[in-house]
Amino acid sequence: MQDIGNWTPSSWRARPALQLPAYADEGALRAAEQRLATLPALIFPGEIAQLRTRLAAVARGEAFLLQGGDCAESFDEVGQDAVESTFRVILQMAVVLTYAAACPVVKLGRIAGQFAKPRSSETETVDGSTLPSYRGDIVNGSAFEAAARAPDPARLLTAYAHSTTTLNQLRALAQGGFADLHEVHRWTADFVRTSPQGERFAELADRITESLAFMEACGFDAARTPQLHAVEFYTSHEALHLHYEQALTRHDARSGRWYGGSAHMLWLGERTRQLDGAHIEYLRGIDNPVGVKLGPAAAADDVLRLLDRLDPDQTPGRTVLISRMGSDKVAERLPPLLRAMRRAGRTPVWCCDPMHGNTVTASNGYKTRDFGRILTEMRGFFAAHAQEGTYAGGLHFEMTGQDVTECRGGAQALTDAGLGDRYRTACDPRLNGSQSLELAFQIADVLKAARARR
Ligand code: TRP
Ligand code: MN
Repeated sequence: MQDIGNWTPSSWRARPALQLPAYADEGALRAAEQRLATLPALIFPGEIAQLRTRLAAVARGEAFLLQGGDCAESFDEVGQDAVESTFRVILQMAVVLTYAAACPVVKLGRIAGQFAKPRSSETETVDGSTLPSYRGDIVNGSAFEAAARAPDPARLLTAYAHSTTTLNQLRALAQGGFADLHEVHRWTADFVRTSPQGERFAELADRITESLAFMEACGFDAARTPQLHAVEFYTSHEALHLHYEQALTRHDARSGRWYGGSAHMLWLGERTRQLDGAHIEYLRGIDNPVGVKLGPAAAADDVLRLLDRLDPDQTPGRTVLISRMGSDKVAERLPPLLRAMRRAGRTPVWCCDPMHGNTVTASNGYKTRDFGRILTEMRGFFAAHAQEGTYAGGLHFEMTGQDVTECRGGAQALTDAGLGDRYRTACDPRLNGSQSLELAFQIADVLKAARARR
């Protein structure tokens, strides 16, 4: 069992904590934390153990990880459709990837808790007036008004309630029949048949259709094979708001371990992964799988020290390194990291986030990302692993099932001029449903080639 020494759920408080809001009313913050501490965890520790087993298979090259969802969830996104449509697209992508990689795909949402955002500046100035930056719905409101921008501790409880609602819906969808393999593939077959964007994937989609028909003919139908009817689905978010995470930390009497109760997996961004910082201190003591984002400036020695801190026992399935290098830097920056981890005997899950290194500002001021560059970074990620003899284990997307216009390109050929039509993100630009599915199809060949090398 991992030795956590003098760790406690609150030991992070003695360390420098970046990116946390300054609340005007300390008492209100404490009251919200105390209330959260009385509420049930969102997840059960056995689910964490199961996810760690699944991720260990990824680390061994026997499974693939698909992580996706909003950049930032919003309290305003209520109703059946928002979660359902995103979940549907994740499932559709998962079918294509399962077929192409010929291995199980671990399905992990950036969802049911992705409410806190790191910001480069404490404040934002518009037309001469200065207000606190928007830090995600768990902290404040995005409207540029003094009342909305004031950090409000009551939002911690709203975030919990919102996460509970979303997770409940996801559990129902994952287990209740919505995720039925035939059903999911039928949506994809419709997309391929009826949309100009889908046409060129007809061949691959038809092969999946035939495989399903063959399996059914052999007697593997949903009635006799329950795993065709349901999926395991896990949740994750950035572990940024440590007051919230601490308040939902629980002790598991059966294992004697602590776990973060807000999601199955938690990750840290580039801005909060300082070795002696509060965020690493918090994550090192909980049992959940933990992710760390690595940008082009990440040095191999620092990454090794991070892994020593987070995973001293080198347990496969504990850590996920999520690289976000940028399409023009991945070929240069990723291989040295892969090599250093391999030489040190480290076997983290390697996951590619092709979104965050490829954000640009369009001519008309919209923050956007190019479909082509996203694809280029993904290809570069697989190429780097092929070169270094390591396993390219997963993909991490900012995406939504809604028909938004936030990223440029793809078969819809979205241009700068079209971005304004349905630009709805609370933070970074997301792939829409059609673009997301397209990426899964586009990367299928690369996955198949990687499988041949396994
Ligand atoms: N349960 C299996 C799995 O998760 C098969 C499956 C059922 C599936 N429905 C799915 C796979 C939807 C992908 C998407 O792999
Ligand atoms: Mn983002």
